Amino acid sequence: MQEAPIAFHGVAYGRPKPHHNAELTEVGPGTPCGEFMRRYWQPLTLSARATTTPSQIRILGEDLILFRDRSGRPGLLYPRCAHRGSSLFYGRVEAEGIRCCYHGWLFSVEGECLDQPCEPCGGLHKDRVRQPWYPLQERYGLIWVYMGPPARMPVLPRWDVLEDVPEGQKLLVSHSSLYAGGDDDVEIVPCNWLQEWENVMDPFHIPILHTSFSGVQFVPEMGVMPEVNWEYADAGMRYTAYRKLDDGREMDRVTQALFPHVRIVPNVQLAEGPSSGIGWVVPVDDTSLRLCFVMKVPQDVDRLPRSPNLRPWSQMTPEERQAFPGDWEAQVSQGPITFHSEENLAGSDRGVSMLRRTLGQQIRAVQAGQDPAGTIFDPDHALIRIEAGNFFRKPSQG
Ligand code: FES
Ligand SMILES: [Fe+2]
Repeated sequence: MQEAPIAFHGVAYGRPKPHHNAELTEVGPGTPCGEFMRRYWQPLTLSARATTTPSQIRILGEDLILFRDRSGRPGLLYPRCAHRGSSLFYGRVEAEGIRCCYHGWLFSVEGECLDQPCEPCGGLHKDRVRQPWYPLQERYGLIWVYMGPPARMPVLPRWDVLEDVPEGQKLLVSHSSLYAGGDDDVEIVPCNWLQEWENVMDPFHIPILHTSFSGVQFVPEMGVMPEVNWEYADAGMRYTAYRKLDDGREMDRVTQALFPHVRIVPNVQLAEGPSSGIGWVVPVDDTSLRLCFVMKVPQDVDRLPRSPNLRPWSQMTPEERQAFPGDWEAQVSQGPITFHSEENLAGSDRGVSMLRRTLGQQIRAVQAGQDPAGTIFDPDHALIRIEAGNFFRKPSQG
C-alpha cells in the first residue's frame, strides 16, 4: 500500500520573519506612541514610595530618581547630576531638595541648583544650571507625572468613583499584578503594555481562560458565552457583554478602556453596580508594564480582593501554571512584544481591532499637532464619570 504524501502546506520552515507594530507599542522619547503617552498625566507610583531615600524608577522607557524632600515635596529628576554625571540615586535628601554625593550640588524638586559648595559663595552662576525634572502631583494615594511638552500640559482628571468615598470605606492603592494573573508582590509584568490594555476589550477570553480552561477563576456565571457589543466612546471605547444566566437573570457587563491606558473593569464576582475602582496599565518601557489600581474598599481591607481560585503566581509551580494558566501566562507568553505580523484576528477580536485602530488615530493626531482624546484643559470639566459596571436587567425590560 502506498503511503499518503505529506501535505507540506503551512510547515514552519521558511515562515516570514515576524515583527511587531512599533507605532502602537513603543513608548520611548520621540516615538509616536511615546509622544502620545506623554500628553497625559501618568500614574507613577504609590505616594508612599516617595521618601527621603532616593529610589530608581522607570517609566515610558526613562530611568529617573524619585524622592521626597524633607519639606514633604515629591521630586522626579533625571539621574545624571548636571555637574559631572554621578547618579542622584546616591544623593542625600535635605529640606530643599537632593544633594549629589560627588561634589555636593543641591537640586530642588524642580531641578533648580541651589548650592555648589566647592565654588566661591556657593556658586555665583548656579542659576545657569538646571537638573532635568518632571512635574508631579499627588492624588488618590498616587504620584502622577507629566512628561510631555509643557505648553500642552492638561489638567489631572478627577474620577467620580474615587471622589465619593462613603463612610466606612477608603481608597486602596496598589501595584498588584494579581489582576494580570500575577501576584500582590510582583509589580512588573514583563510584556508590552498593549498586551495588557487590549485584553480589557477581549471579553471572550473570560469564559475560556478564566472559567473553562483553568477552572472557575472568577464565578461560574462568567462561563456563559456573552453577546458583545463594542462601541467607540469619547475618549476610548467600551463594550457591553450581555449574559442570560441559568437562574433566569439577565445582565449587562459594561467595561471601559480609556486613553491612554485606563481600564475600568466591573467587579469580577458580578457584584451589582458601577465599578468600584480604576486601573492604569503604565508602560515601564517597551517590554514591561506596571499596573496601578485605585479602588474603593471597606476600611479594614489592605489588599486587592483576590479571586478564590487565582493563587499568587509566585507560589505556583511551573506545572500548576501549565494546568491553571491565567492572564499572566496568556499575555506574557505572547512575548516581550507580541508579533502582530503573525496574528489572525477573528470576529471575537473586534474589540482588540477597534482599540488598536482608535489608538493609532490618536497617536497620529498627536503627530499632526493635535491634543489627543481624553486630555482635559478646563479645570471646571476635569471630572470623569465612569460607565463601567454590572447591571441586571429588570424582568419587565427583558
Ligand atoms: S557630579 Fe554631582 S556634584 Fe559633581
Ligand atoms: Fe483576563
